[in-house]
Amino acid sequence: MRTLLKNIAHLYTPDTKGQFGQIIDLENVHLLLEDGQIKTIVQSTELLPEAEKIIDLSGKCLLPGFIDPHTHPVFWKTREDEFIMRVQGKSYEEITAAGGGIRNSVRKFRQASKEEIKEVTRQRIARFLEFGVTTIEAKSGYGLSTADEIKSLEIINELNQEQPLEMVPTFLGAHELPDEYQQNRQAYIDLVCREMIPLVAERKLAHYCDVFCEKGVFTVDESRKILKTAMEYGLKARIHADELAAFGGAELAAEIGAVTADHLVMASDRGIEAMAQAGVIPVLLPGTTFFLGKDQYARARKMIEAGCQVAISTDFNPGSSTTQNLQLIWTIAALKLKMLPGELLWASTYVPALSLDLADKLGSIEVGKQADLVALDIPNLNYLPYHYGVNHTFLTIKKGEVVYRAAH
Ligand code: NIG
Ligand code: FE
Repeated sequence: MRTLLKNIAHLYTPDTKGQFGQIIDLENVHLLLEDGQIKTIVQSTELLPEAEKIIDLSGKCLLPGFIDPHTHPVFWKTREDEFIMRVQGKSYEEITAAGGGIRNSVRKFRQASKEEIKEVTRQRIARFLEFGVTTIEAKSGYGLSTADEIKSLEIINELNQEQPLEMVPTFLGAHELPDEYQQNRQAYIDLVCREMIPLVAERKLAHYCDVFCEKGVFTVDESRKILKTAMEYGLKARIHADELAAFGGAELAAEIGAVTADHLVMASDRGIEAMAQAGVIPVLLPGTTFFLGKDQYARARKMIEAGCQVAISTDFNPGSSTTQNLQLIWTIAALKLKMLPGELLWASTYVPALSLDLADKLGSIEVGKQADLVALDIPNLNYLPYHYGVNHTFLTIKKGEVVYRAAH
C-alpha cells in the first residue's frame, strides 16, 4: 500500500546528523509512504510516483509525529476542585500535605474497575492524536498497591494493541506514599523493591521505572535504592527531579545513569553539569510550572549550553498539568524557556525518541523510518508557537495511516 503526500509546502525534520536544534526545511516536496514506512522524498521537479492513495498537502507543513516523553494518562476522576483551591491561594504542596494531590487520585483509582479506567483512558488518549502526537511515554502511579499498579500497566499495554497511539510504559510505583503506609515508609519502599519491581519485570509490563524524587515525597537515597533495584531487573531509569526544590535529583540521575531527568526547575549548576557529562536527557515540563502558577521555570538555555539535548513534554496528569496540547507547550517553552523553533522541533520529536530508545525508527523524517507524521495548517515553523492555544493539526498519520483529520 502506497500513499503519496503531495505538494507539501514545507517538510521540516531534525537534521539528525547535525547539532541539537539544527533542522532541514524542504520546500515544495512530495513524500511517498509504503507499507507504513517513509519510502522516498520526491522533489517538485521529479515525476510524481504512482500511489494507491494521494493526499494533497498544499499550503501545509509536514513534521515528524510529535512524541510526548512524560505523561500520566491512566487515572480515574479529575481534580478540578483542587485547581479552584489553588486559584484561591492554596499551593500544590499544601494540598498534597493535607492528603490531596496524588493520594486523592489514588483513592479514586482504587474504587474503579480495570475496564472502567481502561475505557476513560482510551477516550482521553485519542486526544493526543488530534494534537499530532503519535507516541507517548505513559506512566502508572495512581494505584500504589501491587494489584493497582499492575492494573494500570496492563491498561497501557492492552490499549497499545487496541488503538493507533503508541505508548511506552513506565512503572511509577514510587509516585507517592499511599495512605496506608504514611507511618511506615520503609515498608512501602520494600514493597516496591521486593514485590512490585520483580513482578513488573517478570511480566514485561514496563520498559522504564520512575520515582518522584522530591522534598516531602521520596528522598535521594530512597530514589537511588528504588531505581537501582529496577535497573538490576532490566528496567531503565527516568526520574522526577528537582521540580519544587533543589534536592539533588539531577545529580542522582547522572550518578546512576538515568535515561532522563524530568522537571528540573530548581536543578543546581552542578546537577546540570553532571547531567551533560553523563548524557542524561532533561525532559522539561513548562506547562506544569505554568499550571501550578509558579514564576520560576527550568533553565533550558543553561542545559543546552552545557551540551544537553533537551526534550519537552505536557506532563499530562489530573493534578499539575491537564493539557495534552504539545503545541501549546511549544509556546510556553518559547516564552519561558527561551527555546527556538528548531530546538522545539528536536525537543518534541527526535530527543523524545532517543529517550525512549526508538530513534532508529521514530523522531525524524528519513527514508526507511516509520511513517509517523503530522501535517499542520501553518505557513512556516515560526508560526507554530506564535499562534497559540489552538490546534493546528490538519492530519495525523501513524504507521502510514491517517488516524486523525481536522473537520475543516
Ligand atoms: O509530574 N510530579 C509528580 N507527578 C505529577 C503530578 C501528578 C499529580 O498531581 O497527580 C507531575 O507533576
Ligand atoms: Fe510527571
